[in-house]
Amino acid sequence: MKVIRVKDAAEGGKKAFEIIRDGIQADAKVLGLATGSTPVTMYNEMVASDLDFSNMTSINLDEYVGLGPDDDQSYHYFMFDHLFNKKPFKEVFVPNGLATDLEAECQRYDGVIAEHPIDIQVLGIGHNGHIGFNEPGTSFEETTHVVKLTQSTIDANKVYFASEDDMPKEALSMGIASIMKSKKILLMAFGEGKADAIKGMIEGPVTTHLPASVLQNHDDVVVIIDEAAASKL
Ligand code: GLP
Repeated sequence: MKVIRVKDAAEGGKKAFEIIRDGIQADAKVLGLATGSTPVTMYNEMVASDLDFSNMTSINLDEYVGLGPDDDQSYHYFMFDHLFNKKPFKEVFVPNGLATDLEAECQRYDGVIAEHPIDIQVLGIGHNGHIGFNEPGTSFEETTHVVKLTQSTIDANKVYFASEDDMPKEALSMGIASIMKSKKILLMAFGEGKADAIKGMIEGPVTTHLPASVLQNHDDVVVIIDEAAASKL
């Protein structure tokens, strides 16, 4: 893993944007994208740039079960609000949280990923080391699947909802096997709350107990962390 240390999320977003820009100039056509607070500074840089994404495809990592595109807490809504409304892409894919047959939706999404191999996958990381919504204990062989969110993830994300009861407890997530097939992986983490997960990911054993540790097995991973997230290395 190549680790780039930055001062803060603003500088991290600039560095991440440079990697995306260089990738596109080297002919990347498919971006795997993430939600959450972490990639926001990178999306802001993408929006402010003069780059054209109209011949690019994006594939998002995950979505809450039960939330549709019009729900302002859905990841679909987040992506349009932060990026796609301002920088149109040729095609964008987000799992359908309203699908009545969730297993069929997982299979459909695996088909989408197979048809559009991911050039650069952007990742954040959960406090418990999850990537996408691949919670601790998830097999590294997993493809798109329905996830029962852990209490750690519910505690971290419920702040975005009116109450814990309003937060979906299930999600659809791209699997670790699909994430690992991406040509390049760009993981960002900012803040002290991520310091333990970052230490485990970089210095700990490769274990399903800390899903992000699997990235040690990928040969092109760039990690961008601020001082607080790097504080336990
Ligand atoms: C969420 C998302 C992840 C994200 C992570 C961290 O649960 N499913 O894709 O990386 O948690 O979120 P944040 O960036 O807000 O800390």
